[in-house]
Amino acid sequence: MAQLSPALKQATPVQVARGEGVHVVDTAGRRYLDFTAGIGVTSTGHCHPKVVAAAQEQVATLIHGQYTTVMHQPLLRLAERLGDVLPSALDRVFFLNSGSEAVEASVRLARQATGRSTVVAFDGGFHGRTMGAAALTTSGSKIRAGIGPMMGGVAFAPFPYAFRYGWTEEEAVAFSLRELDRLLITAAPAADVAAFIVEPVLGEGGYVPTPPAFLAGLRERADAHGILLIADEVQTGFGRTGKFWGHQHAEGATPDILITAKGLASGFPLSGIAASEELMAKAWPGSQGGTYGGNAVACAAALATLDVIEEEGLVANAAEQGLRLRDGLQKVAADHPGIADVRGLGLMVGNEFCTPDGAPDTAAATRAHAAAAEKGLLLLTCGPHGNVVRMIPPLIVKAEQVDEAVGLWAEAVRA
Ligand SMILES: Cc1ncc(COP(=O)(O)O)c(C=O)c1O
Repeated sequence: MAQLSPALKQATPVQVARGEGVHVVDTAGRRYLDFTAGIGVTSTGHCHPKVVAAAQEQVATLIHGQYTTVMHQPLLRLAERLGDVLPSALDRVFFLNSGSEAVEASVRLARQATGRSTVVAFDGGFHGRTMGAAALTTSGSKIRAGIGPMMGGVAFAPFPYAFRYGWTEEEAVAFSLRELDRLLITAAPAADVAAFIVEPVLGEGGYVPTPPAFLAGLRERADAHGILLIADEVQTGFGRTGKFWGHQHAEGATPDILITAKGLASGFPLSGIAASEELMAKAWPGSQGGTYGGNAVACAAALATLDVIEEEGLVANAAEQGLRLRDGLQKVAADHPGIADVRGLGLMVGNEFCTPDGAPDTAAATRAHAAAAEKGLLLLTCGPHGNVVRMIPPLIVKAEQVDEAVGLWAEAVRA
């Protein structure tokens, strides 16, 4: 009898039997409020009836129409439909299966299009676990440890994590951009840099919104040096931050390549990159493809996801409920000095635990996270020290569910 690899760790003890909206039900019939949403994936909630119907219909019609062999309608319709929500200049899309794969496709495109080799990523960023994506990732040692040598041509610059530095956001942005300018005249000469890759909210690295002035500063430098700006919107896309894309919180910071995955298909494995026609045309012939990319059922689910987001006003709901959630969590933190910072954008909210002398308090975060699960609220941790407890409910979450979650969180923190 085979068993799962012991390296596969589970954040909660739950064995899930089914999912319904913002809830999952375990094999013993206990209901949990799921504020993990499958790590930000089930954007329309678990098993939204419209997504289920679209997938069921597609399963009975065509499951796999391999896109470098034949073309199928759900893929063509999805490409067209994404044009309604993508920045207008990004009018060419290419589909894959996972976030990591899409990150690697973006690097491949950036290197081929510019003829340059270096990609600059930012401290604490998470871009995936495959070898190329892991080489860009510094959110924690577990992604990189023991697998070197890593892919070359990667340089790292500071991320404006104001809370960590103990600075104002302005100070952190000024410092980070100054260090980036220095990097471009030292270890990573600008003429060798193909791209900057950045998350609009640092995700696995601690749920830190990227200050708009930083994104604008990256755009400025990219334009000045012929560098491409890649927005890794794997976690921040599809309405999660209260705008359709996370980078839209910064005016004028439209990326050259946008990466999407997670919420795109409400749980079916689907990812993609978007770029302008001119840029995408610079991908070398045959360099884009894959056996499963743009799977017909996943594309049908993505089309239904877009319908649901639009019909139910989920982007606006994410903004509204995100504010309510942050407000509630800030009130809990006011009574618990161990929660040193509550921050986020839309329905991506983090609670950072610190000791009285300001050091990361992983033990307290771990205890609060486990206590929340015991009380029926599923959450995740993040950050290099695992001392940030994050909340990522589906975009359909209602005010009373937010209030219920905040109440359970207050009890968990007290416990
Ligand atoms: C910002 C970001 N990029 C890339 C990835 C990798 O995506 P996947 O796990 O689908 O490969 C993730 C996953 O959490 C992510 O949050």
